[in-house]
Amino acid sequence: LLENQDVLIAILEKLKGNLSIPVSCKIRLLDPKDNRTSHERTLDLLKRIESTGVSAIGIHCRFTHERPRQPGHWEVFDELIQELRVPVIANGDIWTLKDLGRLKNTTGSLATAFMIARGAQANVSCFRKEGQLTCHEVMTEYIKLAILYDMPYPNCKYTLMQMAYPEEERIDFQKNIVACRSYDQLAELFAIQDYLQDVLKKRKEKAEEIDNQEQATKKIRLEVI
Ligand SMILES: Cc1cc2nc3c(=O)[nH]c(=O)nc-3n(C[C@H](O)[C@H](O)[C@H](O)COP(=O)(O)O)c2cc1C
Repeated sequence: LLENQDVLIAILEKLKGNLSIPVSCKIRLLDPKDNRTSHERTLDLLKRIESTGVSAIGIHCRFTHERPRQPGHWEVFDELIQELRVPVIANGDIWTLKDLGRLKNTTGSLATAFMIARGAQANVSCFRKEGQLTCHEVMTEYIKLAILYDMPYPNCKYTLMQMAYPEEERIDFQKNIVACRSYDQLAELFAIQDYLQDVLKKRKEKAEEIDNQEQATKKIRLEVI
């Protein structure tokens, strides 16, 4: 859609005309083309999007051909935002609240909001005002919740694999997680076997309680008949 802008604008107009909820839109940076700079082309597009009346525009500060591991271009934010009235959500390469502070104090000072994607997957406590928790702490709490709510084991393992351990420990620790085949093994790796046993015991007791209640209800029904 970045290269099919008439279609993009038609979609936004349709959404704006038919929805009562706020509509927002997110773009990447446009390459220079036809003697026009990236700044000119991106700004033109942003202004066209703004004119549709969207509530906010997200800017992911990479070009379409750039891969996630390539650094984002934080320097573009304020020079684009100063030309707009619509609230802008700045996105790209913000991993921690420290990064956010650096961006706010430099080239992202005019942004209304900020968006964190991979940073939140890597360590969701990146939003925590009191300071980030270690990946090990986040993983442990996550596994406890997964056990408590009986999440299918593969889902839990997949999510753990998206979380990032400090580089020096990452390979070994991720290998250990990969090797786990059950909550039993995972609980052992994270030293929360007691927690697992406690949840399983309470679940069994609850199941028995429900079973007994059902038996009692059946008996009452039979007596009534
Ligand atoms: C798992 C995942 C799913 C994503 N899905 C979308 C999506 O549906 N739409 C979108 O515009 N961007 C999507 N993105 C891109 C992010 O919104 C974001 O622009 C990009 O990851 C750069 O931000 P970051 O440096 O904070 O990760 C996704 C990214 C990840 C990691």
